[in-house]
Amino acid sequence: GGMSRIVVVSNRVPVPQGNAGQAGGLAVALLGLMQRRGGLWFGWSGAVAEAASPPNLVQRSGVGYATIDLTEAEHRGYYTGYSNGVLWPMLHGLPHLMSFRRPDLDTYRRVNRRFADALVPMLRQDDRIWVHDYHLLSLPAALRQRGVLGPTGFYLHVPFPAADAAAVAPGIRGLVQDVLACDLLGFQTASDRENFAATAIGFAGAVRTGDEMLELGGRPVRLGVFPAEIAAPEFAATAAAQMQAEPARLLARSLREQALLLGVDRLDPTKGIPERLEAFRRVAARRPPRSLAMLQIAAPSREDVAAYKRLRQEIDTAAGAINSELGEPDWLPLRLLARPQARDTVAGFMRLARVGVVTPLRDGMNLVAKEYVAAQDPADPGVLVLSRFAGAAAQLTSALLVNPHDAEGMAEAICAALDMPLAERRARWQDAWAAIAETSPERWGEEFLRALSPEALDRLPVA
Ligand code: G6P
Repeated sequence: GGMSRIVVVSNRVPVPQGNAGQAGGLAVALLGLMQRRGGLWFGWSGAVAEAASPPNLVQRSGVGYATIDLTEAEHRGYYTGYSNGVLWPMLHGLPHLMSFRRPDLDTYRRVNRRFADALVPMLRQDDRIWVHDYHLLSLPAALRQRGVLGPTGFYLHVPFPAADAAAVAPGIRGLVQDVLACDLLGFQTASDRENFAATAIGFAGAVRTGDEMLELGGRPVRLGVFPAEIAAPEFAATAAAQMQAEPARLLARSLREQALLLGVDRLDPTKGIPERLEAFRRVAARRPPRSLAMLQIAAPSREDVAAYKRLRQEIDTAAGAINSELGEPDWLPLRLLARPQARDTVAGFMRLARVGVVTPLRDGMNLVAKEYVAAQDPADPGVLVLSRFAGAAAQLTSALLVNPHDAEGMAEAICAALDMPLAERRARWQDAWAAIAETSPERWGEEFLRALSPEALDRLPVA
């Protein structure tokens, strides 16, 4: 049926709680869809508790939120250990950052089963279930084993690497089989979908039965591409309004004639922050002092994971070296903030920035790239310098595309951006805007859910 209830399952659940953090755009879009159709959002509460307890259920403007706490051992094995210490680096093609312990894989699977045990009693027969991201690869199989027959979809927010690169994660074969228990698998880009298909065929025993179809053990699975989007017109309006707000005014005043370069990331090894700082060092060394400044916002993330601790040290050291080498008594080239900033404030900073530097080593999509485009003044837009290895590069083809492993190439692109004449900036910006303006996170969600309808799946009636 067209209006069956939507059940979203994700590791993090954006339970509205007054002023405690703004939910991301995709989460807001899903909430809108769920409010119209009725919905349940299930996942981790974000809290670590002494012992496992049953789900906590709250109702907020038509959407139910059911959350469970993790025990200390579950958090360590499932979240810190296997999800973020093995799957995250493998999926982003950074195997040297993997740190595998066998018990963490067992805990990962056990927590996925615990999610299923807690969720199944809350389900109705005609629910449409939408599972999100790499923390929950085993959940589709766990739900089927518990008798859930209804339409079940899975969306991977992050990239999927080539089959040989995926194979380095111990346990991945079983997890790919588990996720193939669903009806629809969604990816950010066509290349993620093809890579996943190659892994499913090469390592997990699946067979390809069509352009967008795999089969495992006689069960069909559809593979689709659904690039994540932003609410571009709304973000543009926020950025423009923020020009009157204090943070943007203070930043603008401090810049005077300096051109602003801006980076906005979670403090994560996939984001290429040290590589970006090296590119910036080269640019700053070639340009007159006081002619430019870079602001890098790096919001701390997953601080229990060893690679993230090391990265924090590395970035702090690199930033200090840039300022001590190239700074002047009255001017420092780099401003590094290892703190999250409010989303609206960042929108204003983006509009002030002459260059948006979005250079992850690998990224599923990277919505910051799209937000930077949306935030620009159409009459005098800045230039986006974008990694070829971000999913967004498939859509934002008018950006200056760079290889984040090539510091010199990035430095040249940043200089080209700084020197770019207005006519070229406008032309490139118009192309980028056209790629993001006509779509929205609501469309993204609706398209996935439409593909997950029984009609679209052409499912046999549930016996
Ligand atoms: C990425 C992942 C999300 C995750 C987010 C924040 O965007 O795709 O699943 O929620 O990072 O990371 P965290 O570990 O804090 O949830």
